[in-house]
Amino acid sequence: MSYVDLHLHLLPGVDDGAPDEATALAHARRLAAEGVRDVTVTPHVNRYWPLEISTIPQRVAELALLLEEHAIGVRVRPGGELDARHARECSDAELELIAQGPAGSRWLLVEAPFRGLDATFAADCDALLRRGFGAVIAHPERAAGAGTPTGVQALCSLLATGVVAQVNVCSLLGNNGLDVQESAVSLLRAGLAYVIASDGHPGTRDHTLALGFVLAQRAGASSVQAWRLTQANPRFLLTHGIPQAPSPATAAALELALD
Ligand SMILES: [Fe+2]
Repeated sequence: MSYVDLHLHLLPGVDDGAPDEATALAHARRLAAEGVRDVTVTPHVNRYWPLEISTIPQRVAELALLLEEHAIGVRVRPGGELDARHARECSDAELELIAQGPAGSRWLLVEAPFRGLDATFAADCDALLRRGFGAVIAHPERAAGAGTPTGVQALCSLLATGVVAQVNVCSLLGNNGLDVQESAVSLLRAGLAYVIASDGHPGTRDHTLALGFVLAQRAGASSVQAWRLTQANPRFLLTHGIPQAPSPATAAALELALD
């Protein structure tokens, strides 16, 4: 089996990810060499980057063609890293263009706000759920206070609503500081992270999800757990959507955290 990366800024020239086609191609070759075969291309969808959601599928189709022309064996699918507040201004049809998963179980990659997992964020996630979209919370370990009891409680309350958490490779690597690294490791050890993704920004953050497999083990995961986090679980999300019930490990961790 191969790695499945659900969070990667591979689309050239649209955000702070790959600046141009040459950089995107170089990273795609890196992905192929390191066993990452499936990628959701997730440019920022927020008020800061002037990217029309309606253009993402075509842009990703053009990127797929480019990879094919260069015989790079990586499958790309259109997605987006959605700012939950910005989602209020997006139509269901727009969100559908960047949603993943099968019909009836569609979900969005929702960026954890750096200000913290506050009530506004919880309300915005709930609004998405009521609109029919599940949520994979991108890098909750980077949210302010993530490692505090309050921060853990906030995440557990979100997970109890049926969303799942995605931890970043760069957080595990320590590139966002010691506090973030410790929070990321804690989420893995507590069973609160469902997937790891690269959140790669080709040109500035060139690591791939293959490194996530190594770092998960370094954090104490078994090889099977690391395989689930980087391969089986992200593939499950794409094929089947968000699991209906928390995993036993997550449920146990939630009980402890909410006690
Ligand atoms: Fe990202």
